[in-house]
Amino acid sequence: MQTLSLSHRDELAVIEPSILYFGTPVALIGTCNEDNTPNLAPMSSVWWLGWRAVLGLAVASKTTHNMLRAGECVINLPSQDMVDAVDRIARTTGTDPVPPGKASRGYRYEKRKFETAGLTAVNGEIVAAPRVLECPVQLEARVENIHEMAVRDPDWAGRSRAIEVRIVRVHANQSILMEGEANRIDPDKWRPLIMSFQQFYGLAPDKLRHSTLGEIPEQSYRPPNARMG
Ligand SMILES: Cc1cc2nc3c(=O)[nH]c(=O)nc-3n(C[C@H](O)[C@H](O)[C@H](O)COP(=O)(O)O)c2cc1C
Repeated sequence: MQTLSLSHRDELAVIEPSILYFGTPVALIGTCNEDNTPNLAPMSSVWWLGWRAVLGLAVASKTTHNMLRAGECVINLPSQDMVDAVDRIARTTGTDPVPPGKASRGYRYEKRKFETAGLTAVNGEIVAAPRVLECPVQLEARVENIHEMAVRDPDWAGRSRAIEVRIVRVHANQSILMEGEANRIDPDKWRPLIMSFQQFYGLAPDKLRHSTLGEIPEQSYRPPNARMG
């Protein structure tokens, strides 16, 4: 273990931030309500491993209820130019009445999320959950596993779930595909919307430098002779 130089030690402070949202892509989760109407919710606690994703969601959300009941959803990824649409459905919920924790933060009940956002719902091809036509990436997904978060913490237990889903179909707008490649997203063309500490950002326009990891052919991550999902 290296001892920090004096100057570094002076720069660091032990802090207790209320949130640790250091910056992740925004996803719009499309789910189907009990009455077959569509619900849509912005979230950003999402990460991927292979054709799996894990979504961190509040138990009090309509999205969580719908996912646990129906076992499916669509993870729609907005590009940074869709930020206004995303913001129009911030602080809304499909739960009526609004749960107390959300009411105290100024949330309102909104049944017509798509209309409020100005976005277009299209049916999933495999799952019965709505895709967002305007999103350049739409990932149809099935729930595989549910992890209860913070079970040993009396203040946080029961409030949130980490939901593992399996991606069963990927829809991508042709405009973000790599030239001459049917199955590759071009990261120079894909401009995800990022949320960092409750604020919206985009990515810098160009690569920062050559990537050593990027020397590994993307094809090598494809499972051999297996369905991707
Ligand atoms: C940019 C953004 C990111 C969000 N990220 C999350 C998240 O990762 N997990 C979560 O549970 N809620 C997140 N929220 C809050 C949900 O959108 C909120 O709980 C909403 O009421 C869910 O809608 P629903 O109740 O209709 O499912 C986020 C909101 C915004 C605007």
